[in-house]
Amino acid sequence: MHHMQRIDNETVRRILDTADIVEVVGDFVKLKRSGANYIGLCPFHNERTPSFSVSKARGICKCFSCGKGGSAVGFIMELEKLSYVEALRWLAKKYNIEIKERELTADELAAASERESMLALNEFALDFFEHSLTETDEGRNIGLSYFRERGISDASIKKFRLGYAPEKRDALSSAAMAKGYSGEMLKATGLCSLTERGTYYDRFRGRVIYPVFALSGKVLAFGGRTLKSSKDVAKYVNSPESIIYHKSNELYGLYQARRAIVSADKCILVEGYMDVISMSQRGIENVVASSGTSLTEGQIALIHRFTSNVTVIYDSDPAGIKASIRGIDMLLAQGMNIKVMLLPQGDDPDSFAKSHTLEEIQSYMAEHETDFIRFKARIMLSTTNSDDPVARAGIISSMAKSISVIPDPVLRSEYVKECARQLSTSEEVVALQVSRFRNEGLDREAGKARTEEVTQSVPDPTIQVRTTRNADKSAFLRPGESEILRLLVRYGMMTIAESQDAEGNLTEISVLDYVRSELEPDNITFTNPDLDALYGAILDLQPQWEAELPGLQTRAEAAGRDFSEAELGVLRSQALSMSEMTKRGNDIAARAEEVKSGFVSDAAEQFIARRLAASPDDTVRAMATSMISEKYVLSKIYTKNNQKIETERDLLSIRVPRAVYGLKIARLQWDEKELRLMLAEKAGSPESVEILASLQEMRRIIAEIAKYLGERIILPR
Ligand code: CTP
Ligand code: MN
Repeated sequence: MHHMQRIDNETVRRILDTADIVEVVGDFVKLKRSGANYIGLCPFHNERTPSFSVSKARGICKCFSCGKGGSAVGFIMELEKLSYVEALRWLAKKYNIEIKERELTADELAAASERESMLALNEFALDFFEHSLTETDEGRNIGLSYFRERGISDASIKKFRLGYAPEKRDALSSAAMAKGYSGEMLKATGLCSLTERGTYYDRFRGRVIYPVFALSGKVLAFGGRTLKSSKDVAKYVNSPESIIYHKSNELYGLYQARRAIVSADKCILVEGYMDVISMSQRGIENVVASSGTSLTEGQIALIHRFTSNVTVIYDSDPAGIKASIRGIDMLLAQGMNIKVMLLPQGDDPDSFAKSHTLEEIQSYMAEHETDFIRFKARIMLSTTNSDDPVARAGIISSMAKSISVIPDPVLRSEYVKECARQLSTSEEVVALQVSRFRNEGLDREAGKARTEEVTQSVPDPTIQVRTTRNADKSAFLRPGESEILRLLVRYGMMTIAESQDAEGNLTEISVLDYVRSELEPDNITFTNPDLDALYGAILDLQPQWEAELPGLQTRAEAAGRDFSEAELGVLRSQALSMSEMTKRGNDIAARAEEVKSGFVSDAAEQFIARRLAASPDDTVRAMATSMISEKYVLSKIYTKNNQKIETERDLLSIRVPRAVYGLKIARLQWDEKELRLMLAEKAGSPESVEILASLQEMRRIIAEIAKYLGERIILPR
């Protein structure tokens, strides 16, 4: 996605800093205050009692029932099924933040500008068609009255952004050119063609317009339906393939249907534009159309982002059904659950939706949805003369082929049984064919995999042993490594100690500084690659924090000053003795100092967590989010007067060293284990004496560190 590089970093920062998690979630979920947090019904699954919690301070939300949630940007990505950059744009729009596009390099410009200009022109055309439909006489008399006649509501017209293309040969092209769009782009998008005389004429003339949207909401193409019944006029004219429109990778209506698909956990597949619109208008909104072509893998992948359940609706024309059945084997191979539904004779989804109530449609669906394999057998039997042995063999083979692509073996064997019964043949016959098809399929796959392997590496047994060993080690060290990272994500920039140099200058030591000072001299790195990547992301934030610190300190000082001025104002207005004045004045100064340092430490506490929970890297974002929302075990250490349980934040100077030394001990324990194994192997040999000596030395060090940390340390396992 080339947008990736296009929002400049400063704007990204501004969007992420402005987005308030409570406001963003509040757009979708009714939130109620509950202590320090807000709660509401989870938008990711159906529930009656609220388990969706939003923390304003941490800037994240999380469902304690289904586990979904994240930062503001993560939440929008998940809920609206958007990419990172699309979600940023969504947030920018909400907060009226103007997106400053970064200057592009020459290469980027060449690649991006054509695409961008085409999308911009399509956006213009979309407005033009919409405007023509409702704001011109021709559009109202012809286009709008056509939609009215077909029972399409104004709300549906808005939702699907339907339009009208005037009859005039250059209505769109002259309007677009007057606005500065180039003829070249008009041609590239296919909105117009160039005549031999060098004039432009519109592709869509005197037609109602169905725009096709990408998941991002960008308009990629248009379909135009004629309003004439003449046979010489093509019923549909569509935008041609282009660098922005690959018909086989788009599904009509998916943009409008995506949330309904997620909440129903099902996608209904129909054929035509009008089928989608009528079903949606009737209240069945999880509907998309393949626009008259058979389904492609790209389209299946698109659906799979939202659900694994697909119901294909056919009008009951057997020839059409047989043709489209081929495309469905592909759905099966992707592990999708396919159901099929036939409509009553003479109906298509459009007419069916219009002549039935929502309840009637729902109960019809509940009754008539059939499993695809069963359906296919039925259709094939009904369209072939099954007395003809050759035709029968053909059916069995075709059924076996469909079954063979299903990834789940249990499901496969169930279908073998079922199919044998339907075709009145033995299970063995079907099973044999299924396994033959599977072997062919697997051979093809394996052939591909084999060639890839050869080009990659020559197997080396020692390397393999090493990697399994390393994997064991990483697993052993994982709890210790993740504890350190959890503390870094939550508190990394907070101060845990101060150090004084020879001249008496105080330096504040952050949690991150401390961890680095302990790990780097010992060359300790994180052995789990995902955790190491997270650590890298944290280290990258250090310079950003340092850059922000001066501004933060200025604001902190201002906050302290405001506080003391307000308090001193109150103090001066009172008639107090001189000594009382001095005492209270000192008191105010001390509290102002607290306000000031509290300001900085709150910002420090949130810095890493907020940045990482909004990271463009999916893994980093997911790990950080879960570390922030994880509930830690409250320490049982009380303050002097036993009143307040201290928070983890107050105990960093104990927790952080404990985590670091916990990891150091775990590493030594691993080495100790390896030495023990080596000792067992080499028992009786001359080296064994040396190994034993190092083993004892190692145990002594472990014991020493453990003692230093006190008895209460819980070692990671
Ligand atoms: N289609 C197309 N080009 C054609 C014919 C059909 O792109 N020449 C696509 C359209 O997406 C259309 C779908 O195939 O919606 C189904 O075609 P058809 O059944 O002929 O049209 P309907 O959608 O039923 O249109 P209407 O109900 O308005 O007649
Ligand atoms: Mn139709």
